Amino acid sequence: AQDQAHLSIDAAKSGAKIDRNLFGQFAENLGRGLYGGIWVGPDSSIPNTRGIRNDVVGALRELKVPDVRWPGGCFADQYHWRNGIGPADKRPATVNSAWGDVVDSNAFGTDEFMDFVHQIGSNAYVSLNLGSGTPQEAAEWVEYMTAAEPTALAKERAANGHPAPYKIAMLGLGNESWDCGGAMSPDYYVSLMKIYSRFVPNMNPAQRDKDQMLRIAVGPGTPTTEWTEAVMKAWQHHTWSWDINGLSLHWYTVPTGWPPSAPSINFGVEDYAKTIKSTLFMDEFLRKQEAVMDKYDPEKKVALVVDEWGEWFAPLPGTNKSFLEQQNSMRDAVLAALNLNIFARHADRVRMANIAQMINVLQAMILTDREKMVLTPTYYIYKMYVPFQDATFVPVAFDAGTYVHGDVTLPRLDAIAARDATGKLWLALTNLDPEKPLQIEADINGMKTAAASGETLTAPAVDSINTFDSPRTVVPKPAAVKTRDGKLTVTLDPKSVTVISITP
Ligand code: AHR
Repeated sequence: AQDQAHLSIDAAKSGAKIDRNLFGQFAENLGRGLYGGIWVGPDSSIPNTRGIRNDVVGALRELKVPDVRWPGGCFADQYHWRNGIGPADKRPATVNSAWGDVVDSNAFGTDEFMDFVHQIGSNAYVSLNLGSGTPQEAAEWVEYMTAAEPTALAKERAANGHPAPYKIAMLGLGNESWDCGGAMSPDYYVSLMKIYSRFVPNMNPAQRDKDQMLRIAVGPGTPTTEWTEAVMKAWQHHTWSWDINGLSLHWYTVPTGWPPSAPSINFGVEDYAKTIKSTLFMDEFLRKQEAVMDKYDPEKKVALVVDEWGEWFAPLPGTNKSFLEQQNSMRDAVLAALNLNIFARHADRVRMANIAQMINVLQAMILTDREKMVLTPTYYIYKMYVPFQDATFVPVAFDAGTYVHGDVTLPRLDAIAARDATGKLWLALTNLDPEKPLQIEADINGMKTAAASGETLTAPAVDSINTFDSPRTVVPKPAAVKTRDGKLTVTLDPKSVTVISITP
């Protein structure tokens, strides 16, 4: 009986919308995240469109990436946008002192970022420099991007080849201002943030609508609530002159604490269990911050935006430590699914999230090495979860059971369900047990179940990875799902994530 679990899905009930922005990405000017990962330059022998890798664009389009956060991270608070516009040979070389003191050619700037976002069919989430910039610099940057009128900056953008204004979907008002963004006190930040909210307008009247440039304030990065209190208390009394639409939250899974020392390769079940245990804390972290937000904003107008999350392991041997390069394994796929499930359960308040980071950095979707590219297990989770974008949460009742390893106890099963716009029901099931399969029987109430099919992601070991030479060790395969008389049965492989569609 221990190897069976029963689920009950109430398909007629609805929860919150699982906002597609929960599946956002983060691409900082860090290591090989942009340079090499996205940007190879128009003269490269690597196939590209206007300098942007075609293979990476093709892979990302499959994920329907809703938004990309750029240029940082810590880098954002030292970025001066003027260095990154105009003819490439006239751009100044600068030093990326946030990440490794490497020389930055500034070849990938605002126009290249907007081109990238356009090529992958996504939206721009631009983080402003509140640390070392000024409100005037930020206002001019946003004017360069959004002005529709023939202002001097709109003309400059047109002269750089982009007459039509860009859309900024989200605007970050600083990054980790309590630490790398300027080590500010909460009160100092609140005063500064109000100024940027007030004096950095979207210059495109067609996009002035609030939904067109959501302003995201810096929020907490530790489980304490002091920062959230300060921002939300101020927001409760905001006037016509300033507003925010979201509060950012950063939290990484660092199973050994700082500095990250756990390996991303060649680990065993003990590391797996500890890492998964550590990541499940995300739920409690969100609850704590939500309780404070509910106090000042019971109508949930301000979204909680988890715009940096994911695993942070020891740098891969032989790589530049500041480049934050790590491998991505089956464990990381399980971890990604568990976090996406947590976000879905908090979807009434958590309406955006950005995994750190998109390519070659931390928990990446894609790894590249010159002309080579490989898709990671985390990539496949994002691909399998595409149907959950903007779907409506449907409650699932189940007894999760337990998986015990040494002194670590984990739930054995996790599950979420959602209904898409066509009426299809989607079910995501994770078997956390790395050793044993789990038989599932699900009652689907309130819906006729005509047909079901699914895909599952599993691998020989918790540390199985995809490499440039063996890129298909961890890839989805069909799942053996059956439906009969309103019941669905499927056997979940050990350490697997399965996504099933049920057609009415
Ligand atoms: O994602 C790497 C870094 O982690 C970001 O630059 C920073 O915001 C966070 O501390």
